[in-house]
Amino acid sequence: MTPNRIYLDYSATTPLDSRVLEEMEPYLQSSFGNPSSQHFIGREAKMALDTARDRIAESLHAAYGEICFTSGGTEADNQAIIGVMLASHKDRNHLIVSAIEHHAVLHTALWLRELGFELTILPVDGDGCIDPNDLLNALTPRTALVSIMHANNEIGAIQDIAQLARITHENGSLFHTDSVQSFVHLPIHLGGQHAKSGLGCDLASFSAHKIYGPKGVGALYIRKGVKLHALIHGGSQERERRAGTENVAGIVGFGKACELLSDEREAESLRLTELRDRFIQLLFEKIPDIKLHGHRKHRLPNNVHISVKGVSGTTLLMLLDQNGIAASSGSACSSGSIEPSHVLIALGLSKEEASSGIRFSLGKETTWRQLEMVTETLKEHVIRLRT
Ligand SMILES: Cc1ncc(COP(=O)(O)O)c(C=O)c1O
Repeated sequence: MTPNRIYLDYSATTPLDSRVLEEMEPYLQSSFGNPSSQHFIGREAKMALDTARDRIAESLHAAYGEICFTSGGTEADNQAIIGVMLASHKDRNHLIVSAIEHHAVLHTALWLRELGFELTILPVDGDGCIDPNDLLNALTPRTALVSIMHANNEIGAIQDIAQLARITHENGSLFHTDSVQSFVHLPIHLGGQHAKSGLGCDLASFSAHKIYGPKGVGALYIRKGVKLHALIHGGSQERERRAGTENVAGIVGFGKACELLSDEREAESLRLTELRDRFIQLLFEKIPDIKLHGHRKHRLPNNVHISVKGVSGTTLLMLLDQNGIAASSGSACSSGSIEPSHVLIALGLSKEEASSGIRFSLGKETTWRQLEMVTETLKEHVIRLRT
């Protein structure tokens, strides 16, 4: 990072780790084969895919055959939800999602409702947590699938996925979780519906560019035995679950990023948790009338989402941007829109409060010195805007 630029938007995307790039490079040039080709150049690419799939499965405590590569988190979410609803709609046509899902889940669910599927959107409390009783009450004999995110991209709230999945399974329904934001910080143990120590999900979505891997590649974990329709039709790649020539270099990079994560995640998450808590404390000390959104404890180690009373979040972000500080109003995908965040509205914030939200998301290159500088800069802007 250039010394005079401070990046605090790691939840939008992470820079590519140089060790990941190194591993990808041969597959962009010399080892360019198509993994479906029978000759030695194709077999070389197929072997690289196999190794990457092994690495990813191992880091998720899943089986090799349970990993289906996609073009990213959005496709994995679409594949999980549309795929299951199409496969089960004769018996069960009801879908449950939470109100704070990423648009990759929420917009997919709303589209399915337009097509005639039944949809229930679960509320969250003021901290962004789902009450398991609300899920229990929403389940019906016709519920095919429940999709609840592991950790929220805007406010960092972490849900008790194992408990929600257990309640869902007692109803005979399937459970999907969007783990796009959690994977880089929290150990993920899939390993089948009945695995005692695991999350107990039937499907889970992942994205490489949130874990210091490349953009445009992700994966859907599909527990062995789960039936779903393919979205993309053509060749027989990915066990006929996703047609199209695989993004070999991207998948190789994803595999390497997973391997690095398994070795480095624990220490980095501890470091970030400490930085996050000191940063929150400093912000509250220096800037009056701010509010932290999302659960104080059940929150991602890198997430600090605040609103500054009486000040527009967009204006603050613009000013920070001019000072070389990159932060966000929440989801990168909706930052261009003027609508207040659906996540903050779901927490019960007024439109005005919701439009004063700023998300700082910390990552590998974040230092305490940077956070001190950001606090000082923010304080100066807030004082000026409030007078
Ligand atoms: C929770 C969540 N789900 C899904 C996505 C989409 O992932 P991708 O950018 O890989 O399509 C994102 C990206 O911001 C996300 O934060």
